[in-house]
Amino acid sequence: MLDKKIADLLNDQINKELYSAYLYLDFADYYADEGLDGFAHWYEVQAQEERDHAFMMRRYLLNNGVKVELKEIAGPDKTFKNHLAPLEAGYAHEQYVTSLITAIYHEAFGQKDYKTMQFLDWFIKEQGEEETNAEDMIKKMKLFGGDAKGLYALNRELAGRVYAPSATGPAM
Ligand code: FEO
Repeated sequence: MLDKKIADLLNDQINKELYSAYLYLDFADYYADEGLDGFAHWYEVQAQEERDHAFMMRRYLLNNGVKVELKEIAGPDKTFKNHLAPLEAGYAHEQYVTSLITAIYHEAFGQKDYKTMQFLDWFIKEQGEEETNAEDMIKKMKLFGGDAKGLYALNRELAGRVYAPSATGPAM
């Protein structure tokens, strides 16, 4: 059985992960509307990964006898002034999510809940990768996105992202 505070934080994190999926779908819709199907595809894949994160947390809670409480998901309300804006919003969002995961880890550490720490190890690593990806996209957009040819090539590159459900998920 998990400590109530840790269980509540993880339960809230399910909502944050589902919101992340929602947010990235919103980005995908924006890019699709702009005719940038590669960018749209990249964020569709990202949304699928975020949904997976929520499912992993739900499973962890269920495995530990915690009753999951699914809460209302806020609607993204972003309007973007240019093609760079969602990339920057995505990076800021991932930094925020990292801070949330870190806070849960901190609580687990304080309570010597080694099991939850082990579970969260996977997410700490994942957040590191996601922040790097988000930062790389901003760099590439600034370098190449300014002219039509560069934007076309970048769009094609992003279209190649493959959704691969994580074979090695977190320790349950
Ligand atoms: Fe699952 Fe990128 O937070």
